[in-house]
Amino acid sequence: MTNPARSASPGTQPAGIADEAAASRYVKKLFSDVAGRYDLLNHLLSLNMDRYWRRATARHFRHVLDRPDARVLDLCCGTADLSLALARGSRARILASDFCHPMLTQAREKLRRHALLPLVAEADALQLPFQDGSFDLVACSFGFRNLANYRSGLQEIRRVLKPGGEVGILEFGAPRGRLLGPLYSFYFHRILPAVGEWVSGVKGSYSYLPGSVDRFPDPDEFLAWMREAGFAGVARSELTWGIAVLYVGEKPSPQGI
Ligand SMILES: C[S@@+](CC[C@H](N)C(=O)[O-])C[C@H]1O[C@@H](n2cnc3c(N)ncnc32)[C@H](O)[C@@H]1O
Repeated sequence: MTNPARSASPGTQPAGIADEAAASRYVKKLFSDVAGRYDLLNHLLSLNMDRYWRRATARHFRHVLDRPDARVLDLCCGTADLSLALARGSRARILASDFCHPMLTQAREKLRRHALLPLVAEADALQLPFQDGSFDLVACSFGFRNLANYRSGLQEIRRVLKPGGEVGILEFGAPRGRLLGPLYSFYFHRILPAVGEWVSGVKGSYSYLPGSVDRFPDPDEFLAWMREAGFAGVARSELTWGIAVLYVGEKPSPQGI
């Protein structure tokens, strides 16, 4: 059964914010404020599991990354950790995009430090400055949930994919189980926001995270949204007991091509 509170929301809805433009502005400012501490907090609060989840995502798309002609977009790239995971041993050309300038500054520096071309674009995921059919893979880790409109986000990903191109969306989930469920929920809703606020020094910064995960569609519902957006072969895999979920799908090729 779907959660009505979740399905009512077309996209992220920070507390006290009703319209999509204001939600986008809130998200951009939030990530601008925490950009300098974002990596430290990510690794600390996930006990370094975030690195494993991004590597698992890259492994899933190895067949695309092995192709020298493949074009890959790391959407909502933040500080480019997914780009790094995708680039490891890859022959594809990887472009990273995000709409938050301070996060992109971190991304550029990190890619340079790893001797990778800092191919980054400052762009809103809901209005990408790329032509139709530009990419063989669009991958997005922990960014999609922050979009102000999920259906528009899926449509935009589909638009910039080549026919036969693939999408991978890595997001937080809610682990079940009589013990793990409540324990994780306590950690995620109580401990994480407090530690996040303390380390980042930005008041309220990490209270947004659990709220945005709670509002995100249930996994089955999100797969249905992907199908409605025109993706085929949609599926999900749970990572670390469902704490993270990788959603995948493909833009169908026109018949006979
Ligand atoms: C939680 S961070 C994830 C960053 C990175 N992908 C990772 O795995 O750590 C979310 C990122 O999504 C970006 N973002 C949110 N909404 C966006 C939008 N509409 N267009 C582009 N980037 C967006 C934020 O600026 C932020 O850098």
